[in-house]
Amino acid sequence: LRASFTLDPAFSIGELDRRLFGSFVEHLGRCVYSGIYEPGHPRADARGFRTDVLELTRELGVTTVRYPGGNFVSGYRWEDGVGPHRPARLDPAWRSIETNAFGLGEFAAWATKAGVEPMMAVNLGTRGVQEACDLLEYANHPGGTALSDLRIEHGDAEPYGIRMWCLGNEMDGPWQTGHKSAAEYGSLAQQTAHAMRMIDPNLELVLCGSSNHEMPTFAAWESTVLEAAYDEVDYISLHAYYREEHGDPATFLAAGSAMEDFVQDVVATADHVRARRKARKRIMLSFDEWNVWYAGPGNDTWEKAPRILENVYNVTDAVAVGSMLIGLLRQSDRVRAASQAQLVNVIAPIFTEPGGPAWRQTIFHPFAQAARYGHGEVLRVEPVSPVAETKGYGEAALLHATAVRNDERTTVFAVNRSLTEPMELQIDVRGIEAARVVSHEVLADADRFATNTREHPDRVRPYEVTGAAIDGGRLTAVLPPLSWNVLHLS
Ligand code: AHR
Repeated sequence: LRASFTLDPAFSIGELDRRLFGSFVEHLGRCVYSGIYEPGHPRADARGFRTDVLELTRELGVTTVRYPGGNFVSGYRWEDGVGPHRPARLDPAWRSIETNAFGLGEFAAWATKAGVEPMMAVNLGTRGVQEACDLLEYANHPGGTALSDLRIEHGDAEPYGIRMWCLGNEMDGPWQTGHKSAAEYGSLAQQTAHAMRMIDPNLELVLCGSSNHEMPTFAAWESTVLEAAYDEVDYISLHAYYREEHGDPATFLAAGSAMEDFVQDVVATADHVRARRKARKRIMLSFDEWNVWYAGPGNDTWEKAPRILENVYNVTDAVAVGSMLIGLLRQSDRVRAASQAQLVNVIAPIFTEPGGPAWRQTIFHPFAQAARYGHGEVLRVEPVSPVAETKGYGEAALLHATAVRNDERTTVFAVNRSLTEPMELQIDVRGIEAARVVSHEVLADADRFATNTREHPDRVRPYEVTGAAIDGGRLTAVLPPLSWNVLHLS
C-alpha cells in the first residue's frame, strides 16, 4: 500500500484548543468509587483520592474533566453531595445506590490535584432554572450569600471558578430521566442559560445536541434547540460510541472518519440556524462523550458502585481511538472541546482494582501521546490514500492522518487501517522545512486482540521503530498493518 500527503504551513486549520483532550468522570459503576476515590486504599491521600490514579491522570495529559454525568446528572440533587450530611439515594439511571460520599467539593479538590479544568453539568431532567442557579452560586460566588457562605462553611473559602457548564445531558434520549421533546428542552435550556448568564455573563455554556448521529431526531433536534437558545450558548454537544461488531473490523476502524462526518453534519445544521437568524456568532462543538464502548449486561441489583461498563480494550480498539483523536484534530476549527468517556474503570483508559493496582489500558497510549504532543497549530492534511469498502460507511481511506506544528517540532499522527498490509507513507515536507525525523513511535501488535491486564499491565504499549527518513524534502516511513503512528519531525 502507498499513501502520501503534503505539509504546508500555509494550509492551517488553526490553533488547537487544549480542551480537546478532556475526559469525563460520572457517578457510574466504579468511576468515582474505587476509581478516583477510595479512602483506605494504600495509595489514597488524606481526602481519599487514589494517588496512583492521579499520577496516571496527569500522565494521560487530560486537560478538562466533565462531571458528574452523563445519565446520572438527570436525576441528581447536587446538595446531597456537599456538607456533612450525605444521604444515600437511588440512582435510576444506572440502577445503583449513590452514597454521595463524593460530591462537588471533593471533585473540585480532586480536579485541582489532577491539574485539570472542571466542566460541570446541571440537571435539566428532573430539575430546572432555580437549581442550576443555586449550584452556580454555591460553586462560583465568592461569599456573602446563603449558598456561597454554605460552601465556605463546608470548608472551601475559595470559589471553584467553574467556567464551562453543560445544560443537561442527552435530553433527546428516551432513556434519559426527565427526557424532553426538542421544543421543551430548547425552551428550558434557553431559560436556564439566560439565568446563569445573569449571574455570570462570562460562563461558557454547552447545549445538548443529539445523543448520537443515528438518533431518528438528529439534526431536527439540533435545529430546534439552537433556534431556541442560540444567543445564550457557546457550544452544542456531540456524543458517539463505536465498537467492533458483526465480525466487521473495517467499519469499526473507519469510526474516526464517521466522527468527522458527524461533526460536519452538526456544523452544517448550526450554521444553517446561524444563517436563518442572521447571527454573527458561530456555535462551536463540544464532543463531550466519545470512545469505544462494548455494551454489556445492565445492573439489576441496587448496588453501590457496581462493576458495570468495565470494558477491557485491545490493540484494535487503541488504533480506532487513535483514529478518533485524529478525527477530532482534523475538525478542530469547530470542535473546541472534547471529553473521552470516561476516565477510570467505566469504558476508560485507566483501570483499577479496589485495594489493588491501577494500570493503563491499550487506549491510554494514543490519548497520552496526542495530548502530550498536541500543542500548536493543526495543519490541513489531504491524504492520497488507497481505500477499502466498509459495510457501515461505504468507501473509507486506509490512511487517516493529521499534523500539529509548534516552535519545537511538527508531529504527524497517522493510522494505517489495513489489517494485513504495511503502508509506505510519503510526506512532502518542503513547506515546513523539516530536515530530519526525530522519532517514529508505533502502537501495533501481531495479535490485534492483545490487551493489558493486572498481570501484564504493559503488554501493549508504543515502541520506537527505525527507518523513517527525509531525503530531498520528502519523508518516507512504513506504517505497520493496523497501527497508530507518531512521527516527530524537526
Ligand atoms: O458514558 C456513559 C453514558 O453514555 C453516559 O452516562 C450517557 O450520557 C451516555 O449515554
